Formats: sequence, structure tokens, C-alpha cells
Amino acid sequence: MKKIEFKFDDMEFHEDTRILFEGKGVAGMDIAPEAFPLFMTSAFNLGNLHDVEKAYENKDYTYIRTRNPNRKALADNLTYLEQGEDTLVFSSGMGAITTTYFALLQPGDHFLCNENIYGETFDAITSLLKNYGVTAEFVPFDNLEAVKAAIKPNTKMLYTEVASNPTDRLCDIEEVAKIAHEAGAWLMVDNTFTTPICIKPLTLGADIVINSLTKFLNGHADALAGSITVKDMDLFEKIQTVRMLTGTSGCPFASWMVYRGIFTADLRIRKQCENAAKLALALAENPHVNFVNHPAVSTHPQYELGKKLFRSPEEATGMLSFEMPNDRDKISEFVDRLHIAKYAPTLGGIRTSLSYPLLSSHMHVPEEDLKKMNISGGLMRVSVGIENPDDLIADFNNALKVFD
Ligand SMILES: Cc1ncc(COP(=O)(O)O)c(C=O)c1O
Repeated sequence: MKKIEFKFDDMEFHEDTRILFEGKGVAGMDIAPEAFPLFMTSAFNLGNLHDVEKAYENKDYTYIRTRNPNRKALADNLTYLEQGEDTLVFSSGMGAITTTYFALLQPGDHFLCNENIYGETFDAITSLLKNYGVTAEFVPFDNLEAVKAAIKPNTKMLYTEVASNPTDRLCDIEEVAKIAHEAGAWLMVDNTFTTPICIKPLTLGADIVINSLTKFLNGHADALAGSITVKDMDLFEKIQTVRMLTGTSGCPFASWMVYRGIFTADLRIRKQCENAAKLALALAENPHVNFVNHPAVSTHPQYELGKKLFRSPEEATGMLSFEMPNDRDKISEFVDRLHIAKYAPTLGGIRTSLSYPLLSSHMHVPEEDLKKMNISGGLMRVSVGIENPDDLIADFNNALKVFD
């Protein structure tokens, strides 16, 4: 059978074309099925002992926890999208985050983190890292002077989300990367809310980018996976070793699902971002809404930074949050009244979903940290889908009538 090649080095194509091909030509694919097959095998037959030696030397497929074509195809696509050197696919976003911490941080290191951050990343830092002798400190990364002032001689890593969960606080990646590098530290960036369709942190100076693939990049709310992409292969090797030893490698089936989802990521995420901007602006006009967190809303405290980071405020993120009066019964009634958006403690799916940070993503975050993060009992997070935006706006405005 003729070997079909997927090569793009002799002509320039756009990202929304190449996203459909990147990863399809991984090693082992000497036949070319139109859809990438699932390699649900725990090991590969390697031949005789000379072949076995060669397979390990050549980093061929051997055992499922070490290498697998589905993870590799997905990894290659993500490497292309994030413009890195290589990618590792993990069992989940948290698997990617914690494995990277364990690979790169050592007792005595200082870890500097944005105070606006996903609740379980916060929990992992506050409850796990300290057990391994790493001191963690949280400062607002929107205050660059505070970031500079918090640097210590032993600062090893700075950590932030591009747009924080759930308040969309933005981080000036370029400036924070400069601070990190002057201190000889790495900058690790969580791109889950924004995705490489909207921003590529590695091109702005970040050293490691993590994506929860469970979210927008898969897009169909039916798989759990995560990834890290890096530019420096030394970092890659260190993280890959710990991934192998901790067993946080992504499952081939989940990788196959995410790879299938990623082909439509450009289409979906652009519509989700556009819809989120429209819904955010409409909610900002509703008299029952105290404020809306989204970079398209001019009252966003970093509205100008949003313009610098993204092609436009309509191409920033499909995530928003907004504050209603802090009345749990009324908020429950609001949730019941919605026709389209349903409550689901996840994000990035094709249907709009809601989550209440105090009972989900930030459930274990102490009261004083919640205050710093601007998360109150009135705050609702919205992951915006691909529905007709006028329908979404009408549905939210109708449900907000519970506060009339
Ligand atoms: C910003 C962010 N990072 C990481 C994660 C963790 O991802 P996963 O649920 O795939 O472990 C989440 C999950 O909600 C998230 O919102």
C-alpha cells in the first residue's frame, strides 16, 4: 500500500487547515486510514532480543505507559498548535500539573504563584508541595511590582493561568516571563481557559504550557486528559521520566477522543469566544448583575491588557463569570429557570454550562483567599457553547427575572 505523507514544509498553510493533519503521520502509521485508529494495546510485539534493544534505543512503541501512537498523534498536534518543541499527554490536567511540579521542583525551592487560580491547582500547591519542602507564595500577577518583590534567590518556578478560573483575571505573560527569566526561574502557564487557538504562551516567553484537554480542546465533555508543551527538550525529558514513574500517562482511548475533538477546535472555540463576548456584554447591561468578568467588557480591570494579549476581545476566551445578588435560593431558582445552560462542574463543551465556584472549582479554598480572588456567593461561572447567541442572551435575561 502506498505510504501517504502529511508534509507542509514546501507551502504555507493556515492553522485551521493544518489542525486537521498534524499528528496523522506519527511513527507506526505506514498505512493511512482517513480517520486515525485507536491503538488500544498495552504493549507492542518487539521481535527478538536484538530488536528489543533497538526498540528502546530508538524510543519506539514498547509499553503503554511509556509511548502510544494515540498520545503521540495528539501530542504532535498540540506541539504544532502551541508552537513548542514537544508535548506530553497525561491522564488529566491535574496529572499534567502535579507531574510537572514533582519533576521540576525540589526541597528548598520557592514557588511563586498567581493568587487568582483554579481551586484544585491552589489545593495541590497548598496541600501537596509543602510536604516535599517546597515553599509556595501567592501574589497578584496583575501587579508586576508585587511579582518582582516576591522573587527570592531560590525561586524556581512562576505559575499562572492566562485568564484565571473563574474570574478571567489576565496575566501579561511577556512581562512575567521576563521577571522569571531574570531570576533564573521557569514560567509555567495554564492555557485551559484560553487555549492555543486564542493565545500561544510559549511564543510570549513561557517555558511550559499546560492544557486541561478535558475542556475546550476536546470540546465534547466526554474525556479526561491533560498536556504540557515545552520548548526545551531537557525539561521534556525530566517531565517524561516522572510521568512514566508516577503513571500519569494519558489513556489511549481518551487521547483518541481528544484528537478527534481537536480537529474542530478552531471552529468551535472561535464561536464559543464570540458567543461569550456577546453574552458577557448583554449580562453587563442586566440590572440584576453586579459585574461581569470577561475581557470584552470595558469594566474589566485589564481591558487594555486583553487587547494586547488577544487578536480581539471576541477571540479571547469562551469563559465568563458574573455576580448576582448573594441569595442562594434565588440563584438556585435562576439555575432552574434556564432552558439552555445546565449546571455541570466542567467547562469547554459545545453546550453552555454553569458552575458555582463556591460549590465546585473553589470548594476547598479558604475564605480569605476567596476574597482575594473576588469569588463571592453571588458569583456564577459560565462556559459558553456554540448555540445561537441571541437564544442564550434571551434565556439568561429571562432567568435573571427571578431577582425582579
Ligand atoms: C484552569 C484549569 N486548569 C486545570 C484543570 C484541571 O483539569 P482536569 O480536570 O483535566 O484535571 C482545570 C479543571 O477544571 C482548570 O479549570
